[in-house]
Amino acid sequence: MNSTQELKKDHVTLRRIKNIAFRCSELLYNKQCVPIEDIEIISVLVEEFVDQFHHGKEEKAYFPETRNKVALSEDVRKFLIEHEFGRRIAIMLRRAISKWKENNSEDGIDDQKTSILVEPIARFLRTYAIFIEDHTSKEDLFFDQIEERKIISDEEDKVLNKLYESCKSGIGGDEKISQLLKLIDYLEARKWMKGYI
Ligand SMILES: [Fe+2]
Ligand SMILES: [Fe+2]
Repeated sequence: MNSTQELKKDHVTLRRIKNIAFRCSELLYNKQCVPIEDIEIISVLVEEFVDQFHHGKEEKAYFPETRNKVALSEDVRKFLIEHEFGRRIAIMLRRAISKWKENNSEDGIDDQKTSILVEPIARFLRTYAIFIEDHTSKEDLFFDQIEERKIISDEEDKVLNKLYESCKSGIGGDEKISQLLKLIDYLEARKWMKGYI
């Protein structure tokens, strides 16, 4: 697999995370219960798989290589701004989850207070899901152009694949990635995800 195809393959996984985040958000908006531990797992996947791993490969390897090519730098600049936007949403999501947990440990929390605490979680999950859909669709078109126009040489491709390996080691290697993928499988198999509630 070449370096461009590898990023497109990651996008398939990102869309699985998007589907989970979106479903969870819909249930929360409908005042249905999703275990807070599962929502914390979504937050981990967003921060570690989407941001550190996938955006890490784009920011540390692929984009620095492609931004110098004529006509691509403007696209890369926009993608980097979108990564920052995603990062901000991920931080707000984590904070909203912590706030919900802190308050939920209090005795006698009423329904009104619960819905005030849950609403931001639902909103940030939804915003993040939309961000993934929009961002990966635009990047896929960009990657298609790069492949069609054969913009990356075989030599450059080898360098990029090496850089990807160091990005992967930086977050814990194959073992870590396999743990994160298992978490996606786990959430996809949850009853709330399969529509049983
Ligand atoms: Fe990206
Ligand atoms: Fe991407």
